[in-house]
Amino acid sequence: MKIKQYLSEKVQAAMIAAGIPSEHAPHVALSNKPQFGDYQANGVLGAAKALKTNPRELATKVLAELDMQDIADKTEIAGPGFINIFLSTKWLETLSQASVNDPRVGISMAEKPETCVVDYSSPNLAKEMHVGHLRSSIIGDAIARALEFQGHKVIRQNHMGDWGTQFGMLIAHLEDIMSGGNIDGTALADLEGFYRDAKKRFDDEADFAERARDYVVKLQGGDARCTELWQQFIEISVQHSEDVYNKLNVTLTRDDIKPESAYNDALPIVIEKLQKLGLAVESQGAQVVFLDEMADKEGNPMPVIVQKSGGGYLYATTDLAAIEYRSHELAADRCLYFIDARQSLHMQQVFTIGKKSSLATPEISLEHHPFGTMMGEDGKPFKTRAGGTVKLVELLDEAVVRAADLLAQRDTDLDEQEREEIARKVGIGAVKFADLSKHRTSDYIFSWKTMLSFEGATAPYLQYAYTRVQSILDKSGIDINAVSAQIIIGEPQEKALLTKLAQFEDTLDMVTKEAYPHILCQYLYELASGFMSFYEACPILKDDVTEESKLSRLMIAYNTQQALKLGLTILGIETMAKM
Ligand code: ARG
Repeated sequence: MKIKQYLSEKVQAAMIAAGIPSEHAPHVALSNKPQFGDYQANGVLGAAKALKTNPRELATKVLAELDMQDIADKTEIAGPGFINIFLSTKWLETLSQASVNDPRVGISMAEKPETCVVDYSSPNLAKEMHVGHLRSSIIGDAIARALEFQGHKVIRQNHMGDWGTQFGMLIAHLEDIMSGGNIDGTALADLEGFYRDAKKRFDDEADFAERARDYVVKLQGGDARCTELWQQFIEISVQHSEDVYNKLNVTLTRDDIKPESAYNDALPIVIEKLQKLGLAVESQGAQVVFLDEMADKEGNPMPVIVQKSGGGYLYATTDLAAIEYRSHELAADRCLYFIDARQSLHMQQVFTIGKKSSLATPEISLEHHPFGTMMGEDGKPFKTRAGGTVKLVELLDEAVVRAADLLAQRDTDLDEQEREEIARKVGIGAVKFADLSKHRTSDYIFSWKTMLSFEGATAPYLQYAYTRVQSILDKSGIDINAVSAQIIIGEPQEKALLTKLAQFEDTLDMVTKEAYPHILCQYLYELASGFMSFYEACPILKDDVTEESKLSRLMIAYNTQQALKLGLTILGIETMAKM
């Protein structure tokens, strides 16, 4: 249930009935202290200022018109004219009761489903995925899953970099080390090393460099031999990425790959369109779009090269073709890009050109959701001890090993296989949650110790809370879905927990609107903490607990568990029955 929207509509209606013009919004927000109720409407203040009347008097008028019987136990005026809203116990009970057998835990589908293109992960295939690709892959995936859960049509676009001059040297090198006509399986096992070797030869050996350049031209011209070598290289590189996606529990599949080369044929058409509109003009032999919108301080428009003087196309040209495809072919309402903050200028340029040129539809919302850099504990960009880039696969494997060590310290009756499985879920979950829980736009420090702690906002803490409920449910021997009992709120911790549960839908709305997974992480952490407080104050399986209370509390625990699971699933983090 969208509580905020519901309360806003009610307060707005009362404001209008009290004579306030409808342009004044009710401004309903969560209260920051329990004595102010669960929600607070602050809009009357602004309205009173504009209407030049006494805010408290105006609030009194609004309150007289406010009908909150169904949802609130109490409404009152506070301070200069805030309206405090205390959610109704009865209403919370009913809401919670209804979500017991509901796989959506009471969350409704979007009223207006949109088509959302999500551009994420998008590694360059010349090299192996490194830690720089972690953030795009997991943040994008979480938002894609959240939008999908809300009922939007999500089209994943893995805009892989599979084209460009560096492929000339890569295929020339590949040709040399291939035995017979086929790729020696191990040659590309270490893609990073392969790239290094090719680059070294390119720099040191003049005839190799020449051949590499020749292959670029041939590749662009569609030469069969070069195309075949290129395809073999790409295939193996894509498999490397797929390994990472599998390990990471990221939903991207082959069908989601729409690499840069897929737009090759569209590039000359894009340039032609821009020229016809008078947007692209020749400047020193190149085709350039000058953007007044992004002029510098002196008023000089910003030049964006869309075709080089030799005829070659650029990263920006491909992105313009992608904008056209997503706008017109895919008919997207929203297009969300999860790309490093360092590409902000590039995104702004292509969005501006897209909108000016009608390559983009007027309706499409083009959104760059940037993210900061992952730092090492020394506060510098995350590197290996030797200063090299950290391969993503290696980082993930280390996470699993570390999680296994952590679990080995616990006294459990798990067998070998179970332990391995749990270590995988905890290790990968820890890396993902640590990243997703940070504000997307800031840099953050990668710390094994913090992310693998059972205390604080971490994956292990949430996964543990999940198993905790599971063990209570198991011990009770009761099948919750078959129980017909009432959820009754007795203790304040029960009310607090049910209130939190009721706020899941509002939370998810914020997450997808702003593309901020950290809001969901924070919510789940508070939910799990709320459960711990509830469980401490409200025993479930103790002898002196009435049957009524026991069943009610079991259902509350079950609802919490389902919400935790759903939230973690949206974040792409797995749960387990025990750990
Ligand atoms: N391949 C690029 C990189 O690794 C990211 C591509 C992002 N998507 C896009 N449409 N430009 O930096």
